Amino acid sequence: MQTITGKDIRFAADLLEEGELVAIPTETVYGLAGNALDENTVLKIFTTKQRPVFDPLIVHIRNEQEVQNYAVDIPDIAYKLMQNFWPGPLTLLLNKKQVIPDLVTSGLNTVALRVPDHGMLKELLNLVKFPLAAPSANPFGYISPTTAQHVADQLQGKISYILDGGPCKIGIESTIIGFENNNCVLYRPGGLPASAIEKITGTKVIMRLTSTSTPHAPGLLESHYAPRKPVYFGDMKELISMHNLKNAALLCFTGNAVEYPGDIPIYKLSQKGDIEEAARNLFSALRNFDQSAAQFLLAEKFPEEGLGLAINDRLKRASVKN
Ligand code: TXA
Ligand code: MG
Repeated sequence: MQTITGKDIRFAADLLEEGELVAIPTETVYGLAGNALDENTVLKIFTTKQRPVFDPLIVHIRNEQEVQNYAVDIPDIAYKLMQNFWPGPLTLLLNKKQVIPDLVTSGLNTVALRVPDHGMLKELLNLVKFPLAAPSANPFGYISPTTAQHVADQLQGKISYILDGGPCKIGIESTIIGFENNNCVLYRPGGLPASAIEKITGTKVIMRLTSTSTPHAPGLLESHYAPRKPVYFGDMKELISMHNLKNAALLCFTGNAVEYPGDIPIYKLSQKGDIEEAARNLFSALRNFDQSAAQFLLAEKFPEEGLGLAINDRLKRASVKN
């Protein structure tokens, strides 16, 4: 199969109508999209990504009104979040309607729904007559793509079209929130900080960041977002003191306070200390490291607040080796 990259939204819509997969831009990361209501297409997503079927998919919809087509028993607090944060990097786990195939949710009773904030994707969702199931467009377990080129590097020959919407403006996946007794439960930190949610709801978000490597538990796997070479994650001064830096590369927030030999590669995610810029640059830096001659990466722990929590979550998972 030949993979074409372009900006033709009509062409992308036609392929999707035919049951094909298309890589799509979102504000968070690129997705590998297909008709969420068609089981055969959804199965193709799993096989193309080499994703185990116990790991459920996010369904992308056009707006808040559409939620009722796919979910039931929607708590009031969920509506509050939709009104404040959609379109945007927030995924909600809601009780699913039957129209959503069990394959999409890996047999769970909940479906993950999100309204993405990207102009081209919004147009695409208006052209097709169905919601789009889309995991991040990387082979399972590897670093998520934030440019069309990242997608091509990995999925060349496996899909026919990559819709190029430029570099992702957030660069880290959506925050995943479920509900229990009208409380918000956080399953994955992401582009929307929990503190922003708490400001709106007035109640604490319950953190449930359980990692697992057991196949029957869906969701957050312990090892993920991982380059092919080792990543060590922690306090940078400590990491530097513990390793022989020959063949090392460093990944830092600002890099300003770090003393290191001048001749090793260093990825500074935001020299001016802007956490949003750092999140945007994270996955590209991990890819650049993977393609470099360095043999391992020392990755600095970010401040544990706001987007720093999501960045640390990804780096921690990237650092776990199976
Ligand atoms: O920003 C994003 O969320 C991107 C873009 C493309 O929208 N998508 C994304 O999809 O990150 P993916 O498949 O890479 O990650 C989705 C996560 C997985 O960890 C999956 O287990 C979890 O969402 N998930 C999906 N449905 C779920 C459910 N019903 N219950 C619990 N976790 C769920
Ligand atoms: Mg993913």
